[in-house]
Amino acid sequence: MKNDKVAIRFQPQRTEIAIERGSTILDAALLGKVTLSHKCGGHGSCGTCKVIVDSKTTLEPPNLLEHRHLAEAQLGMGYRLACQCQLTGPATVQVPEDPLRRVVRELLAAMRETDKANMTD
Ligand code: FES
Repeated sequence: MKNDKVAIRFQPQRTEIAIERGSTILDAALLGKVTLSHKCGGHGSCGTCKVIVDSKTTLEPPNLLEHRHLAEAQLGMGYRLACQCQLTGPATVQVPEDPLRRVVRELLAAMRETDKANMTD
């Protein structure tokens, strides 16, 4: 890997890519084809690109836009806006599950459980 590139790992996708230092986490997600909501196109206005950055990852402190979209408690837990965080070194990033996808997954799981229960009756 060249010195001007940094490695970033996305979880749970287990996607690891190298990208130019100074790129944003959103740039890396798009390059690695990691699904990450970014409704405003990376302008810091929608707040949909939230990710959780591993505590061992060093980043610049949150900027004004991140403070606008993230509560202090979220910042304390490692939440950041992917479109605002520039990569200065290796990073590990957790991509939260899309809320709609989670609802669908939970409904399907509940339906499977109901089907199992009905088959044993
Ligand atoms: S993509 Fe909209 S705030 Fe990051």
